[in-house]
Amino acid sequence: MNQHARMDSQPIPFIDVAAQRRRLGKAIDDAVNKVLNHCQFILGPEVRELESQLAVFCGARQAVSCSSGTDALMLVLLAKRVGPGDAIFCPSFTFAATAEAAALIGATPVFVDVEAETFTMDVNNLERGIATAKKLGLKPKAIVPVDLFGLPADHDSVAEIAEDAGLFVLDDAAQAFGATYKEKKLGTFGLATATSFFPAKPLGCYGDGGAVFTNDDALAETIRGLRVHGQMPGKSEFSEIGLTGRLDTIQAAVLIEKLKIFPEEIEARNRVARRYNKKLGQVAIVPRVPEGYTSVWAQYTIRLESGRRDGLAAALKAEGIPTAIYYAKPSHRHEVYKRFPIADGGLPVTDKLAGEVISLPMHAYLDELTQDRIIDAVKRALGN
Ligand SMILES: Cc1ncc(COP(=O)(O)O)c(C=O)c1O
Repeated sequence: MNQHARMDSQPIPFIDVAAQRRRLGKAIDDAVNKVLNHCQFILGPEVRELESQLAVFCGARQAVSCSSGTDALMLVLLAKRVGPGDAIFCPSFTFAATAEAAALIGATPVFVDVEAETFTMDVNNLERGIATAKKLGLKPKAIVPVDLFGLPADHDSVAEIAEDAGLFVLDDAAQAFGATYKEKKLGTFGLATATSFFPAKPLGCYGDGGAVFTNDDALAETIRGLRVHGQMPGKSEFSEIGLTGRLDTIQAAVLIEKLKIFPEEIEARNRVARRYNKKLGQVAIVPRVPEGYTSVWAQYTIRLESGRRDGLAAALKAEGIPTAIYYAKPSHRHEVYKRFPIADGGLPVTDKLAGEVISLPMHAYLDELTQDRIIDAVKRALGN
């Protein structure tokens, strides 16, 4: 077997965390070793350092790190005293954690539809969802738009509806930290933004982690207390019911090193996406980035006519190319979430997308040879 043939049959990773690990090797080893030596494993100096770097990176006044993206969402809702009887509007076409954060604290997630072109919240349907919640006797409290697959939601339109209805906005940017909307980075829209540092995210650590961003100093302070069981900074009293919600110092040390190369990695992801778009636009519906938006491409997701997806996934698998389906079953279709309301009229776009989407390998270390192998295989499978 010659060199080229051998490469052609090697399995391709869907997200190559190991490639980045190889690149950063010693820098991360040294950063972790520093923590191992100073032994301040909880809220050590790296945590504060990371928080100030994250705040500068995205332009928010405050960054509060925490234990996961789900906890980031929940900490904001807890700080705003959201609870039973309150309606939280969120898409169903997202990871379950978006609705889970509201449900965990006893509030009611109300599912609204998304737009097919961007996969993000459909603001017309959001208005319908608000009316549905009122009809059910719920108190509309917050909108949680999701910046899905790395692309920002339509934040201006969401903000307009939030203002009219007297709701606050909690942006779920778990998949999209680093993306921009009208030249501003995510982390600066709405009252607060939550993100995740799960290893597969565009900016991921080596375990679980997350952060909240806000320009509201008092809110940030409350969240700093809530992530330590409700003990407010500098106080001995427990004044709130909180949780163990801190980011480990070791994870902060890892993230400080990763943040240094993050802008370059975002560029690399965009290069891959542009190339995919150019070469696959004829055989599938490729993702569109609206004017004035940038994406960090947490996923590169194409759409096919219903019924063609399984064939593509099987053909690619046979060639060592993994695919993933986000989301074959939107949140409102899961048994455990069926008890929560959906906007009157149903979620037709969400249900349609669930049968059409398929994501291809995407990461900053996907070289052109490998991209071509994927592109050629997709074209072959789709009969072009
Ligand atoms: C849209 C969205 N929200 C929230 C989360 C939760 O983040 P975590 O896994 O860090 O709790 C995720 C994680 O995949 C996500 O994709």
